[in-house]
Amino acid sequence: MEVDHPTSKMRCLSFLSFFVAITVLARVQAAPLQIPDLTQCEIASASAAAGTPLTLYFNCCLPIPSTPMVDFSFDKYQTVQEHIRRPAHTASEEYIAKINKAYKLMKALPDTDGRSFKAQANLHCSFCNGGYPQKGISGNIPVQVHFSWLFLPWHRWYLYFHERILGSLIGDPSFSLVYWNWDDQVSGGNKIPEMFTRVNTSIYDEKRNPNVQPPVVVPLAATTAYNQSESIVTNKNLNNMYQSIVTASTATLFMGGAFRAGTDLSNSTVINAPLGGGIENGVHNGIHYYTGDPRQELLQNMGNFATASRDPIFYAHHSNVDRLWNVWRFDMPDGERFDHTDPDFLNAEFVFYDENGQLVRVLAKDALDSQKLGIYYKKATSDDLWINYDPPAKTNVSAVPAAIASGVPYVGESPLNGTINIGTNFSAIVKRPIEEKPSKSLEVLARPQPRTAQSIWAHSTLFLLQERTETLWPL
Ligand code: C2O
Repeated sequence: MEVDHPTSKMRCLSFLSFFVAITVLARVQAAPLQIPDLTQCEIASASAAAGTPLTLYFNCCLPIPSTPMVDFSFDKYQTVQEHIRRPAHTASEEYIAKINKAYKLMKALPDTDGRSFKAQANLHCSFCNGGYPQKGISGNIPVQVHFSWLFLPWHRWYLYFHERILGSLIGDPSFSLVYWNWDDQVSGGNKIPEMFTRVNTSIYDEKRNPNVQPPVVVPLAATTAYNQSESIVTNKNLNNMYQSIVTASTATLFMGGAFRAGTDLSNSTVINAPLGGGIENGVHNGIHYYTGDPRQELLQNMGNFATASRDPIFYAHHSNVDRLWNVWRFDMPDGERFDHTDPDFLNAEFVFYDENGQLVRVLAKDALDSQKLGIYYKKATSDDLWINYDPPAKTNVSAVPAAIASGVPYVGESPLNGTINIGTNFSAIVKRPIEEKPSKSLEVLARPQPRTAQSIWAHSTLFLLQERTETLWPL
């Protein structure tokens, strides 16, 4: 027989409301990035990440169209034709003429038009270099679409609209960007694509590194010298690809860590980005570094975020980054990998101009499936070479005495309990876990997330050994 127990029911109810309150509180504290108020533009700045201090200032304020912002929907932005992006070094003369025409028309639009090349470049500058404070939070914290999980979806959306604008300017809705296949160490993708080197064309930029012009292979890491034998550079490039993508087996390791409303990354730089993912901090940055012109302040154009997208090669570079996101998701030997699922990732908001010059609000989650956006990549067979790369172990015991002899302070057997002065470089032996690992498992040296900006340096010297890579990141 059923008996009513009013007291236990009430207890249940009060427990329930307690949990609801906790959940609501947790949701209030975390929130996704919102679109900033575009009337609140500030002067953007870019600073040297290392070496002689230098800061340059840029007015990257965006034109505000008279028509109100619209929300993206797959219905409204139906893909009439597939956009198939191919490797830049295989482009036909016909295609090269077409893309030049499209950029010529884009460059001819007035700066007040969101579709203009100037406004397109400023989208990147303003959301990367402090052009707009975040909305809906207290304090003046800039929007920053680098150095975190925002990096991949923001740049995918950026290319999506950029490509649609170019296509509409030449009346070709199937127009597609090309990808600079810089990871291809077999069939020539690893040089600046010839189509971008033709002086006086609209996809040429004179502010590029004169030392890494074809046939010089572009190194994928700033630490790789460009002027060594080609086989050394290509081998290091394969290793860098492997490190940036294959060993980055989790969403955080590959895409980057959490950026929520109020996250302040104004202290992050290309050489100190604790929340940045492997693809961004690794090979992506390497290409920016080596394409930018060392004769220009801050390696303009490609070498700093404020000016990078003034070079049309930027969009081909990022098409490859975008392609590699898919390769990471679906083509790794250990099976499918997964994007972040945190609601603050999925619901992060961005704003772009569409092919009518209208502002469009988009969400990160609608960029996760590139095919749904009509974007396809021609398969690059050269991927297999770095996917199956077998990296040599980078550290061994005999390296330690050499490091100490060269003056690097050495901190014990394991740095976990050492006290290290802020800013000190050091080397350390980290013990590998003793338990047997399944043969597919990898070990990685990871650093715990710093709690405050001040502790970044202190914490960046501490590493925890997780289950991943046998190739060690430099300490
Ligand atoms: Cu927004 Cu390659 O940088």
